[in-house]
Amino acid sequence: MIGDQKTILSGVQPSGNLTIGNYLGAIKNFSAFPAEYKPFYCVVDLHAITVRQVPAELRRRTYETLALYIASGLDPEKNVLFVQSHVPAHAELGWILDCYTMFGELSRMTQFKDKSAKHADNINAGLFTYPVLMAADILLYQADLVPIGADQKQHLELTRNIADRFNQVYGETFTVPEPYIAATGMKIMSLQEPTLKMSKSDPNPNAVVRILDPRDEILRKFKRAVTDSGAEVRFSPDKPGVSNLMTIYSCFSGKTFAEIEAEFAGKGYGDFKTAVGEVTADALAPVQAEFARLMNDKAYLENVMKSGAEQAGYYARKTLSKVRRKIGFVN
Ligand code: TYM
Repeated sequence: MIGDQKTILSGVQPSGNLTIGNYLGAIKNFSAFPAEYKPFYCVVDLHAITVRQVPAELRRRTYETLALYIASGLDPEKNVLFVQSHVPAHAELGWILDCYTMFGELSRMTQFKDKSAKHADNINAGLFTYPVLMAADILLYQADLVPIGADQKQHLELTRNIADRFNQVYGETFTVPEPYIAATGMKIMSLQEPTLKMSKSDPNPNAVVRILDPRDEILRKFKRAVTDSGAEVRFSPDKPGVSNLMTIYSCFSGKTFAEIEAEFAGKGYGDFKTAVGEVTADALAPVQAEFARLMNDKAYLENVMKSGAEQAGYYARKTLSKVRRKIGFVN
């Protein structure tokens, strides 16, 4: 809450080609909030370097992620769209909050455990304190709501604990944020191993549908998707493959699970998988077209970044100076 205005903040890492998990769990929902909220959406490049990035790719993906925000319906006139490292207050508050976060808390973060297993040769301190920087992103803008996929829920709970702890020591300073997790689409699973999350960094190309995949590739990946025993299109915990495809179909078509079950009653998995591919490709086509147009206009994207950083910086500095005063830093 800034003044009497409620705020929203979320972010996406420019660390890989974004998937339909990122889209359905997060980006698609960013534009779905009522106008009374002031929305801030950032491209979290500081977070991305917790894993080694190729510099030219990081730079390109930063533009691409911003372009995808806009192509997915976020109007830069109505949303503050910015790059995290353009607002130095994120790193500054991140350090301060490190001193109000416990080693034990960070040790329990499942994403840290997963990522340190995956990158055993580079378990850097940033990977460990990653959730504290995320807390800084959120608390700087006094966010009331944070739209995220289910995998970020634990980080949001930590953010709430850090905010509470700080408020208890220094008096009301931060808004304690609530997660916004979509009922359908909060956890899109791998098409090849449907008990695992669909992840940008999955080395198996058939497991992941990317927002920018061409139509024929989308159709092919869904045709190859792993399904379950039996032949019935039914949403059920013992059918993780089919249930995941139904979730994707439901998100892109707006149909309920009951409607989908009725639509495919008596038909086989083959027809169903073709339909999921088509509805996905149809829904992504306008996003892809707008994305291509925007990527041809770097100057426009740079203007958005610049204006976003100025606006975000204004609000971030306000919170940071409040924090500095409360802690006892000399101004
Ligand atoms: P990141 O970049 O991994 O993912 C961006 C968003 O996509 C969601 N998501 C998914 N949702 C459904 N199904 C999936 N398979 C799937 N995969 C990813 C994520 O939950 C996320 O919402 N730490 C964050 C980035 C971040 C952030 C923030 C988010 C940094 N600061 C402040 C919110 C607020 C991350 O790594 O997201």
